This record gives sequence, structure tokens and C-alpha cells, in this order.
Amino acid sequence: MKDYAQLWLDYKEKRENKDCEELKRFTFSGADKEDVIVKNASAELTRGLAAMLSIEPVIVCADTAVPLEETDGEAIRDNEEYRICIKDGGIDIAAKSGKGILYGVFDVLRTVAVEKSVKAEYAEEKRVRPSEPLRMLNHWDNMDGSIERGYSGESFFYEDNEIIVDERTKDYARLIASTGINAVVINNVNVKQAASYMITDRYFAKLAELGEIFAGYGIGLFLSLNYASTIEIGGMDSADPLDEGVIAWWKDKMAEVFKKIPTLKGFLVKADSEGRPGPFTYGRTQADGANMLADIAKQYGAIIIWRCFVYNCRQDWRDRKTDRARAGYDNFMPMDGDYHDNVILQIKNGPMDFQIREPISPLLGGLKKTNQMLEVQIAQEYTGHQIDVCYLIPMFKEILGFKTYCGGSKDSVADIISGETFGSRYSGIAAVTNTGNDFNWTGNYLAGANLYGFGRLAFENGLSAEQIAEEFVRMSISGDKEVVDTIMEILLPSREIYERYTSPLGIGWMVTPATHYGCSVDGYEYDRWGTYHRADHLGIGVDRTDKGTGYALLYNEPNASMYNSPEDCPDELVLFFHHLPYTHKLHSGKTVIQHIYDTHFEGYEEAKALAAKWDTLKGRVDEEIFENVKERFGLQLVNAREWCDQVNSYFYRKSGIEDEKGRQIW
Ligand code: GCU
Repeated sequence: MKDYAQLWLDYKEKRENKDCEELKRFTFSGADKEDVIVKNASAELTRGLAAMLSIEPVIVCADTAVPLEETDGEAIRDNEEYRICIKDGGIDIAAKSGKGILYGVFDVLRTVAVEKSVKAEYAEEKRVRPSEPLRMLNHWDNMDGSIERGYSGESFFYEDNEIIVDERTKDYARLIASTGINAVVINNVNVKQAASYMITDRYFAKLAELGEIFAGYGIGLFLSLNYASTIEIGGMDSADPLDEGVIAWWKDKMAEVFKKIPTLKGFLVKADSEGRPGPFTYGRTQADGANMLADIAKQYGAIIIWRCFVYNCRQDWRDRKTDRARAGYDNFMPMDGDYHDNVILQIKNGPMDFQIREPISPLLGGLKKTNQMLEVQIAQEYTGHQIDVCYLIPMFKEILGFKTYCGGSKDSVADIISGETFGSRYSGIAAVTNTGNDFNWTGNYLAGANLYGFGRLAFENGLSAEQIAEEFVRMSISGDKEVVDTIMEILLPSREIYERYTSPLGIGWMVTPATHYGCSVDGYEYDRWGTYHRADHLGIGVDRTDKGTGYALLYNEPNASMYNSPEDCPDELVLFFHHLPYTHKLHSGKTVIQHIYDTHFEGYEEAKALAAKWDTLKGRVDEEIFENVKERFGLQLVNAREWCDQVNSYFYRKSGIEDEKGRQIW
């Protein structure tokens, strides 16, 4: 027995497809049988079918196709496409590379695991091409084993400043590859202490080993880089990107690194952000910094992913002009077109920081000549710490579907990050991951739906949040219809419920400083982080209109006008863009204050109803899973009640306005 769960690769015995003759014979068309990815795919298929249906398939590899050189996003997507059909009494999986075959195999295993009929599923050729070329997880794991914003134990990559490569590493690769993930950054973006030495002899051997395992599952290895490595490990006194000595140091360093870790695909860089070093120190631009590294990495076919999370984190709360929401745009837009072609800018979905509700970053749809990646967070830093249930896929669907009006018909965020809108060379999506070494990997077993769902959604943007949730439950918990329905009824509304009992109408924050779990309405109100609600006795919200910070105008029309007007702005974001009196009437017909009261009371009641639903599953799901989620619900209800009562009391005391329904406010 392993000391960790197998999640959706649990391969429990299944009834459907028991007598399916086609599952006994597979052809991998276009596969090189010597390719380790193909070998792993065969092994997985054999293992899965044996466990689920007691079938031992015969697998034949036909036609060795030469995979395309993966020099850009289109080639990646072409290589990873797969087709499945029933042919000559067996199943044919065709692809241009081992990766495509692997994804095809996981498609078949999924069909069996969710108990759909294989014959029906593949009666007509099924063809799937990944939506995004790069589908990444970003680990914020530190080398001492801790995880920044980690809520599921310690790191399974590091302990005491050493890299761990073991059975779990391989199972991790299987798990995420099965969802469609093809790239992983294994260390925290805040690169400090031992992590700065990742690019030295101290860690090369282990990294090479890890990279090989990943490569066997089509996963590219990436490292977060310390921008000031020349100083921290090179003993130099500068990290100026235009300095000859600095450039020469990086040339030697990268030659060494790519030789020692041949599977390495590139680096992620957090520069000039929250105290991390960067090119600004030397009066250089973000483009100067990114391009210097990218030009050197290019000859190794590698890319530099440069984060846009650059803002002033030493603001004065008295200052109403500086607007943190503007910072990404103001820092990166002026150089659109200057970033070299193996640089990708990684942009958080919202302009602030992974709140439960934010508008879309205006860089998405602003930048037109730059490779872009979207960054979301499945680690629930501000959305419940994997204690509160918060299924995030509905939120990610909204983000992907957002119409940016950047020109042409393909102008949604999904179009931009798939590379379609601007014909970008590289693009994709990354999630700050929610994994740790807990038995169930994600703290709350139900948070596994976010890990599973992120990969699935990145691979197939067209899947619905419902489909993904159903797959997760059927594969990882139970195929019993009532159980499936009950858990879907818990997952699907959970994000909106969390939103209702926490901060209202897009304003965000109001969280306990530093930990970011639990309510503290004024926790950040007089702090330096640029995150304010500006509530007084008359009203609340931040004026980001043309009369305020002007942030609303950073969007393309008609979004700019929509956000700029309190009448047209969608209710759920109205306090993000406007400072409004408590008596302002929303589209819903409610006043701002009544909306606050109602949503908070309702959100708490709804959370209780979710917990009660879970209780009905006792004895119907695995005992360990049942107890884990039950314990989390207990904590969630305490949290939800605090949020409800503190927010309502705060605004009642500020405004003096009674709740129309006369409920208890403290
Ligand atoms: C948030 C988070 C930090 C993290 C940062 C980032 O601010 O709280 O822990 O380092 O985001 O994205 O870099």
C-alpha cells in the first residue's frame, strides 16, 4: 500500500465495457516503440485495463513517424494531437508523437474509468488537439520542504535542501500527464537561499534524473531563476542586463546548465516584484532583463517566462492616485513588441492577486505583439486554503471566455493564450498548484477537482465545468449516480457560495493579513500593499473610473465604457471600479448594503447546506475521504460564520442602515 492516494488513476474495477472485444487490441499509429513516452503509455494502458476490466491488451506500434521539431506552439499542438477510432476490431490511436499517443491512451482509460461505452465513444473518429500549447503547473515549493501558500503538507520535491526523486515523483508525473499537463516549474518563484543554487553542480544530478522522469510523460522541466544569480552565486557586484560581464556569466552558466540537465526547457522569472531583484535596479526595462536571458537560452531551444506581477508594494494608504491594479499594464504595455520571440509574459488572471472575483487583467487584450501566458492559482490562497470547498473551474471558464475586443473575431482570453489571435510563437496557461505531500495530495480531497480540472480545461477549453467535475468524481470517488450527483451539487456552486460569504461585489481582500485565510475587513486597509476598500459611513469601493485612477480606461471598448459607468458595470465587479453609496441600487434591484447583508447570510446558510449534503454520503464513499472532507467542512462553517458576522457587523456599524429582513447583526 502506498502512503498516498492514487486519485483519478485509482483504476477500480468497472462493470461497463467488460465484454468489449475492441479493448483487447490496440494499434498506436505513428508511434516509435522505442520512445520512452510510448513505452510508458503502453504500460499505463496495460495496468489500467488489467485493474479495471481484467483485460490484457495486445499493443502494436505501427509506422514510425518523425515528431515535428518542437520549436513553437503550433508544432507542440500538432505533436500532441491524437485521434482514436475503432478499426479492424481493435482501437487505433494515431498521433505525430509519443505525447499524442500518451494523451490518447489516457483518453481511453478515462472513458473506461467513467464507465462510458468505448464502442459508442469511438464509433466515429475522435480527434483532440490541445487548446493551449503550454499547460503548466507552477510549484511554489521551497527547498527546505515548505511550500509558499501550500495547504496540503510539505513539498514532495524537497526535504532539508535536497531534491527527492522517488516513486511519488513518477506517480505525480503520471497523474498530471493524464490530465494533459506538459510543463512544470518545480520551485518557488521567490528564489532564495538553496534554491539559488539549483543551477549549480550541487543539484544537477538530481535535476537531470527528475527531468528524465518528467520527459517520459511528456512533461517539460522548468526552473524558477534568481534574477540576481550573478551576484548571489556568481560573486559579481551587478545584475545589469546590459553589462558585458553579466552577459558573459550567463552564457557560461547556461551552457553548463543545459549540458547537465538536457531535458530542461527553460526558466520562470519573478523580477522587480515584492522585493525580488530585477532590471529596474539598473535603470533597465523588464524587456532588457527578459531578452538578455532569452537570447542566451535560445540556442538551447529554451524559453524565458517572465512574470508581470510587478507593482509597488510599499504604497502609502493615504495616496489615492497610485493604483496597484494599473501596475502590470503600466509596466509592461509600453514595451509591447520589444520582447524577443522566446520570451513569454506570464500574466495573472486579474490585476490584483487571485481574489475570488476580479476583472480580467487588461494586459490580456492589451498586448498584441508579445507572447502571453495566463497565470491562475489552484492553490486556494485567497479562496479557502483547501479547507473551504471552492471548485475553481467555473471561474477559469469565465476568464477564458472573456471577450477582450482586441480586434478580429478571435479575441477571447482563450483565443489569445492558444496563440490564435496574434499568431504568437508561444503561449499557454499556468496554474500555481495546490499539491503537497499529504496523503491525498491536495489537503481537502475535493480540492483534487481543481488539480484535475485545471489540466483537463487547459487541454480542452471546450469542456464544461460540469463535465470536468463529473469525470473527477467518477474517476476518483465513486461511479454511483447518487453519489456523483451529490458531489457535483457540492462542487459546482461552491465558488459562488465562497464569494457570497466573503468580500462583496469584486472589492476583494478583507482577509487576515499574511495568512490570507479568514476575515479581517480592515486587515489591509492601512497597509502598504495597495489593497483598499475605502469604506466610510457613506459608501465603499475604489474609484477606478476616468475621475479616479483611470484604470477602467485601460480596457478596449466597449469594455472600458462598461466598467467606467456604475450603471453599466456588472454588479459582481461594481465596487472594484466604483466608490458608491450604500444606498446605490444594483441591477439586481437591491441596494449595496442590502446585497452585502443578503449574500452574507445566504452564503453561510449555503455552506451549511453543502456540509449537510456531504454528511449524506457517509458509508457511500471511502471512509478516509469521507472523514477528510467532513473535517474540512467543520472548519469551513466556522470560517463562513466569522465572515458573515464580521462583514455584516462592520457595515452595519459603519452605515447605521438596518437589515430589511431584521436578521441578527452584532
Ligand atoms: C502573492 C502571494 C505571494 C507570492 C506572490 C507571487 O502575493 O501572497 O506569496 O509570492 O503572490 O505571485 O509572486
